[in-house]
Amino acid sequence: MRLANTFDESRNVLRSGDHRPMSMAMEYRSVGERLGIDFSPTVRFLELMPVFMDGAEHKRVRAAMARIMSSSRERQELAVQRSVSESAFHFAQAGQVELLRDLIRPMWLAVSAAITGPDTRLRDLTIAVPSLFCCHLRLQERIRINSLLSETFAEAADADELMTVLGLASLGMGPLTGSMALSLHHVLSKQTGRYLGEIEWPESFQVSALEVTDRLSASEDDTVRCVLHSKNFSGAENAELLFGGGIHLCLGKAISLHAWKVVTSMLARAPTRIETVALDLRYQPAASEHDFTLIQDPFLRPRAVEVLLET
Ligand code: HEM
Repeated sequence: MRLANTFDESRNVLRSGDHRPMSMAMEYRSVGERLGIDFSPTVRFLELMPVFMDGAEHKRVRAAMARIMSSSRERQELAVQRSVSESAFHFAQAGQVELLRDLIRPMWLAVSAAITGPDTRLRDLTIAVPSLFCCHLRLQERIRINSLLSETFAEAADADELMTVLGLASLGMGPLTGSMALSLHHVLSKQTGRYLGEIEWPESFQVSALEVTDRLSASEDDTVRCVLHSKNFSGAENAELLFGGGIHLCLGKAISLHAWKVVTSMLARAPTRIETVALDLRYQPAASEHDFTLIQDPFLRPRAVEVLLET
């Protein structure tokens, strides 16, 4: 595997038409064949995810997802606003706040419900499906999600459309909740002792939960790992690659930046100061070039960000 670990190299590969994303469906297919498990519902779902596609099919699905994003945009923004307002009381008083549990996950659930709309068939799946993208997920859990997909889609005449909505409501979870938690931790941990209202909040995420993305050359003999976020990149370079580049540029960029603005504005109005901040991470972000090559799960999945507030 080649590592594209300078900003120019990584951006050039992402923008180049000669490299396509790796297929995750293939992995499920081969595990299924090896273990005698029918993963075809999962394979069908993953084959509809634009992050793993290229060519005309990618264009078609991406356009369909872009339409869903734009038609639900107002609902999503309202959902962010409401959810963040409902979480504000945690920051208005002295005490312990866990950012993922008390602020970020409820906000994401509100956004994903705004994307799926009133169709209740997708409720359980939008919570379960994001972990399919995690390479450490236990086999039993993969089988459970596969059964859920099978039950929901086997008889559905609109299965492809429904899966596209589900994909959109699932693909954002890891990057948005992870990047929000890591970025808030990054800012808050440098500000202990200060009031939340005294902080100069950056305009965007400072840390990404998605450090790398892989590409395969057209000849299929070269895998390139593109670094998306690195301490060796400048602030502007990290900001530019935060949402990827080229034809796979993130479709959730606008709502994510909106969510960042709403969250940081709410925090800026809170009357409390930060006593301590602690981050609980499953595994550490890459600290060296070699670390980037070792990454198995592309997402950093913070478990908790505990903040102790005082008045
Ligand atoms: C801070 C939050 C987010 C970050 C850092 C982020 C990052 C990214 C990156 C780097 C890519 C490109 C991956 C690649 O080229 O392999 C991407 C693609 C994508 N993102 Fe996001 N994302 C975020 C939030 C969201 C949200 C909230 C949604 C949905 C509501 C979303 C939906 C998508 C979709 C559908 C794609 C695939 C686009 C395509 O392949 O054409 N993302 N994201």
